[in-house]
Amino acid sequence: MADLRTRYLGLELRSPLVASSSPLTGTLDGLKRLEAAGAGAVVLPSLFEEDLTEESREVDALLASGATGDEARAGYGAGAAAYLALLERAKTTLSIPVIASLNGVSRGGWVRHAARLEQAGADALELNIYYVSSSPGQSGSEVEWRYLDIVGSVRQAADIPLAVKLSPYFSSITNMAGQLVEAGANGLVLFNRFYQPDLDVETLEVVPSLELSTSTELRLPLRWIAILHGRHRISLAASTGVHAVEDVIKALLAGADVAMMTSALLRHGPDHLSQVEAQLAGWLDRHGYGSPGEVRGKLSQRSVRDPAAFERANYLKVLASHRERG
Ligand SMILES: Cc1cc2nc3c(=O)[nH]c(=O)nc-3n(C[C@H](O)[C@H](O)[C@H](O)COP(=O)(O)O)c2cc1C
Repeated sequence: MADLRTRYLGLELRSPLVASSSPLTGTLDGLKRLEAAGAGAVVLPSLFEEDLTEESREVDALLASGATGDEARAGYGAGAAAYLALLERAKTTLSIPVIASLNGVSRGGWVRHAARLEQAGADALELNIYYVSSSPGQSGSEVEWRYLDIVGSVRQAADIPLAVKLSPYFSSITNMAGQLVEAGANGLVLFNRFYQPDLDVETLEVVPSLELSTSTELRLPLRWIAILHGRHRISLAASTGVHAVEDVIKALLAGADVAMMTSALLRHGPDHLSQVEAQLAGWLDRHGYGSPGEVRGKLSQRSVRDPAAFERANYLKVLASHRERG
């Protein structure tokens, strides 16, 4: 039977299957169910800096309501007190690593709250940097500098491993990855999936719209993980489009250390993890591999016979194959 143990951000995980940040990881009950289903680690929902300015009001409200960590839901406006309570309860209750997630605004905010999450016992911290620049005067390098400044500042304030959850919208992800490593990142989560606002043609309003992903969306993280594998001393997590065991295997082959799931777990429930885990172990056994480490990066850009398959050269081939099929 294959040994699924995996290292991610320097942490020992029992499997490469990680529950990414979502409402499912925002309650102790949800976290326990994910652990019971076999999650190698869990990432809590992001603590948003906007919530923290309301902090004293929330602490009062929480105390007044008599809520315990069990009832408290963390993230999405629940406030800092609830978040820290959940993190502390999760750390005493679970035996798998608990990764906190932070979404800051100001440099001071990122730094202060990273330090608090570390003190509350987080095994690692995921920096969910969500920055949309709509200013024509701001260059791509200025945007990149903001990311590097956040990572560098948090690095100085916290000693725990840091992962940066990126968007795919960079001109040179490989260069950016190298700079993030230099700034102190230990891991990259590729990618966050930002929700694009929709337009309602009846009310003529801009409306928020949240749709779960599909496996097809794995292609984007797959390409970049394959390109980045082995280039920097950094852990790589695949996020977006990991639904079935094939997706997990593809992520490993491209070079991911772990495969993260949200949409699949929201759609099928936490027990989906145990099925995927059993299927992964079965696949490794059938193919004669003893562990995920033996397949990791086998199809990364540095390992394949045709590295151009991940670059522009493949573009014409793909278009031509479509025409032939049509
Ligand atoms: C309802 C919902 C809430 C989410 N909340 C967060 C969050 O707080 N922080 C974060 O970094 N990502 C958040 N995500 C993004 C997921 O962690 C994940 O990166 C994304 O859904 C892509 O993975 P998937 O294809 O497995 O769903 C959320 C996703 C969903 C669907």
